[in-house]
Amino acid sequence: MKKIKNMSENNIKSIAVLTSGGDAPGMNAALRAVVRTANHFNINCYGIREGYNGLIAGDVTKMGPRSVKNIINQGGTILKSARSKEFMTPEGRRKAFEQCQKLGIDALVCIGGDGSFTGAKVFNEEYGIRVIGVPGTIDNDIFGTDNTIGYDTALNTAMDAIDKIRDTATSHNRVFFVEVMGRDAGFIALNSGIATGALDILIPERKDSMEDLFSTFRMAEKVGKSSSIVVVAEGEELGSIYDLAKATKEEFPTYDIRVTILGHIQRGGSPSCADRVLASNLGYGAVVGLLEGKNKVMVGMQSNKITYTPIEEAIKKHNEIDKNLIQISEILAM
Ligand code: F6P
Repeated sequence: MKKIKNMSENNIKSIAVLTSGGDAPGMNAALRAVVRTANHFNINCYGIREGYNGLIAGDVTKMGPRSVKNIINQGGTILKSARSKEFMTPEGRRKAFEQCQKLGIDALVCIGGDGSFTGAKVFNEEYGIRVIGVPGTIDNDIFGTDNTIGYDTALNTAMDAIDKIRDTATSHNRVFFVEVMGRDAGFIALNSGIATGALDILIPERKDSMEDLFSTFRMAEKVGKSSSIVVVAEGEELGSIYDLAKATKEEFPTYDIRVTILGHIQRGGSPSCADRVLASNLGYGAVVGLLEGKNKVMVGMQSNKITYTPIEEAIKKHNEIDKNLIQISEILAM
């Protein structure tokens, strides 16, 4: 068993955990890991409902190992989640601090994305409550971890859906534009696109052009493709998926084009094995990190090791898209 350093010096007696921002499959597994690790080290653990809103309102409940039974396999978050507007105000954070004082909360574990981490960082700077971030978002756009909790499940959900679209696209010789989630990031688009043999993949990290897309369609015609799928990230800057489909129809009037937006199905469902294991590692790593005196950091998994990245860095920097993968997708599409 791992020996925890400086436990008494760090003096963590009570922690609180919340899920914030867009929910992601595996958040429950992370919560379970936080609660059970805290219990293992005899630390009180409070669960906060509906993100920072619950902290402000005092919607907080004591959690023990049995409060998190049967949730490792559940999608969503039993704590519920929110993007709290009130926590963005100094008044909201003051109320949240008062609740922390009332309950004797020494540290906050925040499971969420970069918006949630920004809130945690400001809260720490203003009131000194220790904070640790756990990256939970399907977008995989957080620096300091190879994968975020929920990304693998969302990717597989997108892949399954696009596989089904391929069946009907092939049967009708159609062109499908499929939008996948990713407000600012193309990880889901690029990887689900490769996994489903998309003709083209449009992502915000690359400068796309309609001309490039049209020449890809022309090449596809030349090599004898009768149907195709173009995967488009939600954050694609070239235009909305409807604009892209419309412009393509104008250029290729004979094409039978359909648009599918996968939307929030990508956020739901039982977490994959990879997400459950990742979430278990990160939830454990968050509590152990706090016991080791870490503060204002995000716990991540990099090359199969638990790592800690300053929360500021995790917010500011972004995971880079693998340029090589873009090239591979182009080569394999023809
Ligand atoms: O950040 C996760 C995410 O699913 C993005 O991919 C998407 O743009 C956004 O959340 C959608 O947010 P909401 O559920 O608030 O519409």
